[in-house]
Amino acid sequence: MIKRPRRLRASKQIRDMVHEISIDKTDLIYPMFIIDGDTEEIPSMPGIKRYSLDDLPSALDEVATSGVNAVLFFGIPKEKDEMGSQAYNDNGIVQRAIRLTKKLYPDLIVIADICLCEYTSHGHCGVIENGRVVNDKTLPLLAKASLSCARAGADIVAPSDMMDGRIGEIRNALDDGGFENILIMAYSVKYSSAFYGPFRDAANSAPSFGDRKSYQMDFRNKKEAIIETQLDIDEGADIIMVKPGLPYLDVARTVNDMFSVPLAIYQVSGEYSMIKAAALNGWIDEQAAVIESLTAMKRAGAKMLITYYALDAAKWLEEL
Ligand code: PBG
Repeated sequence: MIKRPRRLRASKQIRDMVHEISIDKTDLIYPMFIIDGDTEEIPSMPGIKRYSLDDLPSALDEVATSGVNAVLFFGIPKEKDEMGSQAYNDNGIVQRAIRLTKKLYPDLIVIADICLCEYTSHGHCGVIENGRVVNDKTLPLLAKASLSCARAGADIVAPSDMMDGRIGEIRNALDDGGFENILIMAYSVKYSSAFYGPFRDAANSAPSFGDRKSYQMDFRNKKEAIIETQLDIDEGADIIMVKPGLPYLDVARTVNDMFSVPLAIYQVSGEYSMIKAAALNGWIDEQAAVIESLTAMKRAGAKMLITYYALDAAKWLEEL
């Protein structure tokens, strides 16, 4: 036998020497829920909490200790209304959380998720007229929310609404407001997915009627991933994203091969909760399953990994 592939797998040292893909702590982005109220556990996401502003500093201490450099904030307001006005209130919960975070940890990268669904009484990601989500009336509100988060000190805004034309609208508003250095991380390829279930529980943002299929993408399609990404880059996206993660690695690979901006993959709430639930039952090795899944996402082309396991993964990487 001339070729024996097993020679390259013979010992840990040889395997470590020849391995191709690894995760770096600097790849990890930690999503956090900030609630205008008291800190709460999230039943469908054991280990993840909705933090009050009072408890945010100690949660941020944990982030800093872990060595993770970036957080992604979702706000859960006290009051919701038809137009999601707390999303663009300079004193809204997410704006206050950003200001506090930047005061305590100026070097921590703060990414603000930009969407209306956590802030609207109907739970949809845009303005409703005659039972439909109206694209063009939503755009100025997304721009206002982005500006408001930029003013609070966010380094990056991450629109997750899937309205057409939002990246251009947000880029213009940021530039006009003197925020030409704020980055846009676009949720370019966001499928309408059952894997967001636990998030909607966490953010209390399930739509009160209908579903999100008229704006989020159809999982039967791949070509529209290319169109969405092209549009976002043309309109000024600095970073693109594919979401969910593991079921969509083929899409991530294609998009990463075609476009020359950094790619993030979001391991979403359902992916987290599936591993967590199996682990809590003793059915799966949690640490191994998480590192394997995240490594697979990097192998598919992701530079950044957005994951509720970020702090654990940072710790586990040191133990490998
Ligand atoms: C807001 C938003 C959602 C997620 C990220 N931003 C929910 C949705 O679109 O319903 C999902 C994240 C997750 O499941 O972890 N639009």
